Amino acid sequence: MTGSSTMMAMVYNGPGEKSWTSVPKPMISKATDAIVKITKTTICGTDLHILKGDVPAVTPGRILGHEGVGIVEEVGDGVSNFKKGDKVIISCVTSCGKCEYCKQQMYSHCEDGGWILGHLVDGTQAEYVRIPHADNSLYHIPDGTDEEALVMLSDILPTGLEIGVLNGEVSPGDTVAIVGAGPIGMAALLTAQFYSPSRIIMVDLDQSRLDTAMKFGATETINSDTANVVDTIMASTKDGVDVAIEAVGVPATFDICQNIVRPGGRIANVGVHGKSVDFQLQKLWIQNITLRTGLVNTNTTPMLLKTVESKKVQPEQLVTHRFSFDQFMQAYEVFGNAAREKAMKVIINND
Ligand SMILES: NC(=O)c1ccc[n+]([C@@H]2O[C@H](COP(=O)([O-])OP(=O)(O)OC[C@H]3O[C@@H](n4cnc5c(N)ncnc54)[C@H](O)[C@@H]3O)[C@@H](O)[C@H]2O)c1
Ligand SMILES: [Zn+2]
Ligand SMILES: [Zn+2]
Repeated sequence: MTGSSTMMAMVYNGPGEKSWTSVPKPMISKATDAIVKITKTTICGTDLHILKGDVPAVTPGRILGHEGVGIVEEVGDGVSNFKKGDKVIISCVTSCGKCEYCKQQMYSHCEDGGWILGHLVDGTQAEYVRIPHADNSLYHIPDGTDEEALVMLSDILPTGLEIGVLNGEVSPGDTVAIVGAGPIGMAALLTAQFYSPSRIIMVDLDQSRLDTAMKFGATETINSDTANVVDTIMASTKDGVDVAIEAVGVPATFDICQNIVRPGGRIANVGVHGKSVDFQLQKLWIQNITLRTGLVNTNTTPMLLKTVESKKVQPEQLVTHRFSFDQFMQAYEVFGNAAREKAMKVIINND
């Protein structure tokens, strides 16, 4: 690599502590690695969980971030699909492409990968990042595509689609409830529309997010701060919804989902839960319902990329704020106070 051997990065220093600071630039350590210069990155709710100390596997000194797009700076001898100068999308899930899980496209459980970026290895909130198993963990950016939209392909769009919509088997004519109108709930809202459900009911406490959901294709919204969600949904459906997507991760919202699903319906849990929930098996066994869970695999990224290219889906609409790299701390301040700031996704540009 040319130039200075240090770079700026967002470093986790233990619960509640982070700093935008100078660190050594990453170097190729295995033949299958690539070094990518980040051009655009973002902050995920998971980064806020890490900063709260909820993810103890993240140790002080770790560079945060698992989303972004960039330009390949250098590749190891074993990388054949990418070369210096290629523009790439970085997947939040790293995968070797060779192990038993990868062969089943269950990349989230790759024996030498999974969600490691900004977790077990240094992440994308930096000028440069080392991407292990680059051939399988990066995607080429087609000329002329909106790079802000592509940042949404690192994590939130595949998560909403795979763990919400596909696990929930959203089908033509279905009534779908999405509980949680954050970036993940919104990604489920955008991608559910591929399958032409007849109704999409969004539920949240934040009225401004519900208003945004109406612009993105929700047919109705329920503010769970002011209305009884279960009663409202049961009164407006014959016997509940076909699909309930949980996109928050707390017992109260899981409970809403299990109380609004109709016989034969599906609950797709996307939220990351820190506490156990009370699953009403004694009531639900006879209802023939399906409960699905999961960690995103990002195996739908190539398909989603085509839908972004054709503008069938326009996830760049989720971007509410833009910052430069030297405003990274401010970007965290805004994203960390999303309700007050009316923030959904923030983009941090390195240019
Ligand atoms: N399964 C996966 O692979 C995967 C991947 C990424 C994120 N996630 C998880 O998905 C969840 C959503 O992520 P996000 O980034 O959209 O989070 P977020 O915090 O931005 O959004 C959550 C939304 O839920 C709303 N909410 C909170 N409590 C509520 C309640 N009691 N009733 C109704 N709404 C309520 C909030 O107002 C907010 O709009 C998180 O738990 C995240 O960790 C899972
Ligand atoms: Zn994330
Ligand atoms: Zn693997």
